[in-house]
Amino acid sequence: MTRTPYLSARLQGFGTTVFAEMSALAVATGSINLGQGFPDYPGPAPVLEAARAAIGTAHDQYPPGPGLPELRHAVARHHRRFTGLVYDPDGEVLVTAGATEALTAALLALLEPGDEVVLFEPMYDSYAAAVAMAGGVVRAVPLRAPAPDAGTATTDPWTFDADELRRAVTPRTRLLLLNTPHNPTGKVFGTDELRTVAAFAAESGLLVLTDEVYEHLVFGAARHTSIATLPGMRERTLVVGSAGKTFNTTGWKIGWICGPPALVAAVRTAKQFLTYVNGGPFQPAVAVGLDLPDEHFTGIARDLERRRDLLVHGLAAGGLPVVCPQGTYFATVDVRPVRPDGDGLAFCRELPARAGVVAVPSGVFYDPADAHLGRHLVRFAFCKRDEVLGEAVERLRRMA
Ligand SMILES: Cc1ncc(COP(=O)(O)O)c(C=O)c1O
Repeated sequence: MTRTPYLSARLQGFGTTVFAEMSALAVATGSINLGQGFPDYPGPAPVLEAARAAIGTAHDQYPPGPGLPELRHAVARHHRRFTGLVYDPDGEVLVTAGATEALTAALLALLEPGDEVVLFEPMYDSYAAAVAMAGGVVRAVPLRAPAPDAGTATTDPWTFDADELRRAVTPRTRLLLLNTPHNPTGKVFGTDELRTVAAFAAESGLLVLTDEVYEHLVFGAARHTSIATLPGMRERTLVVGSAGKTFNTTGWKIGWICGPPALVAAVRTAKQFLTYVNGGPFQPAVAVGLDLPDEHFTGIARDLERRRDLLVHGLAAGGLPVVCPQGTYFATVDVRPVRPDGDGLAFCRELPARAGVVAVPSGVFYDPADAHLGRHLVRFAFCKRDEVLGEAVERLRRMA
C-alpha cells in the first residue's frame, strides 16, 4: 500500500473514501445519487420550527457541556417510552456531535492501546478509523449475506456464526461494538441473536457499545431491540442514538449516548476535548422531536418501507438479486448476474454510464483483510423523494 504523506501511522489506509469518488461521479454524469445515505426531504415541521425559533436567542451560545437539560430529559423520556430503559438525565445521558462523536469519544475513553474491539462486518465506515485513532485493534466477525437469485428479492436475513464470534474474543478484547438496525446490510438483530451476543459479552467481561441510530427505521414484522434491555446488560452497555436519521436532519449532528454513570463520565471526559459542545439551537429542536407522538415514529417507518419496496422491486426488475432490508435506508445487491467477475467497485464505476444511477461498493465496509467477502455486493440508498426514486427505478429497469 502507498503511504499517505504526513498522515500518522495510526491513520494510514484511511484515505479519501469511495463516497467522495461516487458522489463526484454522480455530479459529473448527472446521475441519481443513491450512494450516500441522507434524505432529500425535510424533517417534521415542529422540529424545524423549533430550531428556527431558537436562532437569535441564548441558544446561539455554548450549551452546557453534557447537553441542554431539556434535551437530556427528552432523550431519557424517549428511551423509557420506546425501550423501557430508565436513564437519569443528569449523569446517564450525554449529548454529542452526532452519533459519530459519541462512538469516537467512547472508544477514545475506554480503550488502552492494543485493546481489541469485536464488531460485525460489513460495518459503518467510521468504526475502524475511530478504533485506530484510539490505538485499538479491530477484530471483525463477518455477517453472511443470503444469496438471492438473479432478478429476485430475498427477505432472508444476514446471519453470523456464533463460533466465529467466540473465536474473535481474546484476552485483549475490551469491547464489543454492535450496530442494530445495521448499516450497510439493513439487518435488524433478533432477540435470540442479541442474547447470544450478550452472553459472549458477559462471559468475557466485555463492555458493549451499541449504535442504534436507525432505531425507528424498521419494517414489516422486524422489531428493534436494544441489547441494553437484556438481563444484566444495562450496566455494561453504552447506547448511542442520533437525531439525524429520525428527523431527517443529518446535517445537524445532534446525537447522544446513554449508560451507567461511570461509563458516561468516562465518555464525557473525551468528548469535552473533542467538540466540548455543538449545535446550540438544534438541541431544543431535537428535544421537541423526541417528544413527538408515537404516530410520528411509526409513520416514518411506514413511509420508508414504501420507498424500500419501490427500490427493491426496481432493482429486481433490473435483473439484480436484492437482499430486502429489515430496516435502515439501504438495500444490498449481488452484482454477479450482471458482472460474472463479481467486481462491485467496477460495477459502481460503470453504473452511471449504464443506468444514470450511483451506488457504493460494499467492499469498503469491510476490514481490508476481509474485503473479498463483500467484493460482489453493492449498497443502494432509498431515503429519497418519490420522483427521484421513481426515476432511478425506471433507469435501473431499462438496464435489464
Ligand atoms: C450506523 C451509523 N452510525 C452512525 C452514523 C452517523 O451518525 P451521525 O450523523 O449522527 O454522526 C451513521 C450515518 O450514516 C450510521 O449509518
